Amino acid sequence: MKFDNKVAIVTGGGVGIGEAISLAFASEGAAVVVAARTLPRLKAVVEKIKSGGGKATAIQTDVSDEGQVKRMVAQTLSEYGQVDILVNNSGIMGPTASVVDIKLEDWNEVLAINLTGAMLCSREVLKSMVTRQRGNILNISSRAGQKGFPMRSPYCVSKWGMIGFTQTLAMEVGRYNIRVNCISPGRTEGERIENVRKARAEAAGLTYEEILNRERATTTSPLGRITVTTDEVANTAVFLVSDESGGITGENISVSAGTALQT
Ligand SMILES: NC(=O)c1ccc[n+]([C@@H]2O[C@H](COP(=O)([O-])OP(=O)(O)OC[C@H]3O[C@@H](n4cnc5c(N)ncnc54)[C@H](OP(=O)(O)O)[C@@H]3O)[C@@H](O)[C@H]2O)c1
Repeated sequence: MKFDNKVAIVTGGGVGIGEAISLAFASEGAAVVVAARTLPRLKAVVEKIKSGGGKATAIQTDVSDEGQVKRMVAQTLSEYGQVDILVNNSGIMGPTASVVDIKLEDWNEVLAINLTGAMLCSREVLKSMVTRQRGNILNISSRAGQKGFPMRSPYCVSKWGMIGFTQTLAMEVGRYNIRVNCISPGRTEGERIENVRKARAEAAGLTYEEILNRERATTTSPLGRITVTTDEVANTAVFLVSDESGGITGENISVSAGTALQT
């Protein structure tokens, strides 16, 4: 299997895209540490992996808290002895509001979780990756990291930042045989995108169906669909942290059914 004897940390691994990535890594033989704030969801993913014969650990972690990140990585190293892969997947959608109405605490919270969290986790795992001269970091950005995104400014800024962080880190740590890449999912089927639509509907005084219809009417996809699946994102994640993509670093790959091509 691709990830035999490898250890992966997946932040936000208890649900959605992070869960799909965790299960995909485990099915390729990795021991997976799932880290987020809600322990029962993490434990459910660990149980799924263990029931399939894999190894996994749930570690309750707020990625925006430096001390908790340090403890999470230390526990991983003490339990498994190494970290080969980090996926910075944790992220919140933040407020749906115009910049003129944004509360500073909401702005700061989104950046602390979505962007600073990725830096804290990367910095912590890099200590042992640099010593071992090997490792893979994968960041999760968004279509909103490549275009302006009205009513979601802190989210948009955090996801643009993720792509800059990916390129910068790739240039800094490539000399240690460490690769850093990024995936930008398009709208991904699941609870999150439904919550995004609900928030947009509320902010615009429209119904969920009206927002969905508006998305369908205004989205151009070469594949004729406005969403991708969590498995499609996870399969790309497997590729980007496997030896099959050994020549790729500093890249951002859109998994968006081609909707990212829309001008
Ligand atoms: N769904 C989409 O359409 C879409 C599109 C483009 C990009 N993305 C990005 O893909 C990633 C995963 O999205 P998703 O759709 O799977 O979202 P989701 O279902 O809302 O999951 C987000 C994950 O982040 C975790 N998280 C939030 N705050 C955290 C914190 N302070 N510390 C640690 N973990 C935290 C959550 O767990 P806890 O709340 O338990 O901590 C949860 O596991 C996100 O970065 C998102 O921005 C999603």
